[in-house]
Amino acid sequence: MPNADEMPADTHPLATLFLACVVILLTGLGVSAALGRLVYLPDFVTRVEPFRQQLLESLGLHDRHASGRADELARFDGRFSAHPFATLMHVAPGGLFLILAPLQFSARVRSRYLPFHRWSGRVLVLASFAVGSSALYLGLLMPYGGAGEALAIALFGGLFLAAIGRAVVAILRKNVDRHREWMIRAYAIAVGISTVRAIGALLDVTLSPIGVRPTTIFVLSIWTGWVVTLGSAEVWIRVTRRRVRTRPMSSAA
Ligand code: HEM
Repeated sequence: MPNADEMPADTHPLATLFLACVVILLTGLGVSAALGRLVYLPDFVTRVEPFRQQLLESLGLHDRHASGRADELARFDGRFSAHPFATLMHVAPGGLFLILAPLQFSARVRSRYLPFHRWSGRVLVLASFAVGSSALYLGLLMPYGGAGEALAIALFGGLFLAAIGRAVVAILRKNVDRHREWMIRAYAIAVGISTVRAIGALLDVTLSPIGVRPTTIFVLSIWTGWVVTLGSAEVWIRVTRRRVRTRPMSSAA
């Protein structure tokens, strides 16, 4: 995902503004979720539940699985309270990744503060290793959404780690264009976790009242959120590839 000062000069200002707003919103959502789970590690989602209830009531909607909701929440939160180390190893570096990564795409930051870019890049690689390995641990060994979630985590978690690896190899070979593209993919998967949440909330409000199970909604939101975010990143890479390659190395974004 690009920063506003990353856009090629002929990008429409409204498109620039729209992308910047989306990135800021998704980053804010992801960092808030990470902070929420950090502070209320054993029962964050249970604590948020009254707000969900209020929303459903204000819309005049009724969750068809309301009677089993408490058990469902206990099952969801229980995995984090039973595995506090894996949870911390996931959400703390995850929040840090979301805060630092957008700055890496800023040509202004890179040209003025190159040592910061390099050190922040190393921190990001370490953070992504912690995020990716804990994601595989949580998502493959105890998936809330069953096989549908495990498959998504294997795919997108694997892609996330592979993208970081390819980005590191590319920059060691001084291939800035490839480095940029793989970092955009890695960032899209990371920030995709926020798209998953936004889509999850929307699907919850629309599908719970017609009786769709919470695990099904969870799995649907995971696949939709990541496919949409990674797909958008892929489009962005292709649209900007040729233009970016004509620019000098220090300003390639
Ligand atoms: C880098 C930014 C990321 C942040 C800020 C983040 C944040 C979080 C948070 C806060 C939770 C706890 C869920 C909750 O409280 O509702 C969580 C769970 C989880 N995350 Fe991430 N995450 C990130 C990246 C990833 C990536 C890249 C993957 C894998 C592709 C991933 C996979 C998972 C899995 C499997 C769980 C457990 C979900 C479950 O089964 O309930 N996360 N994440």
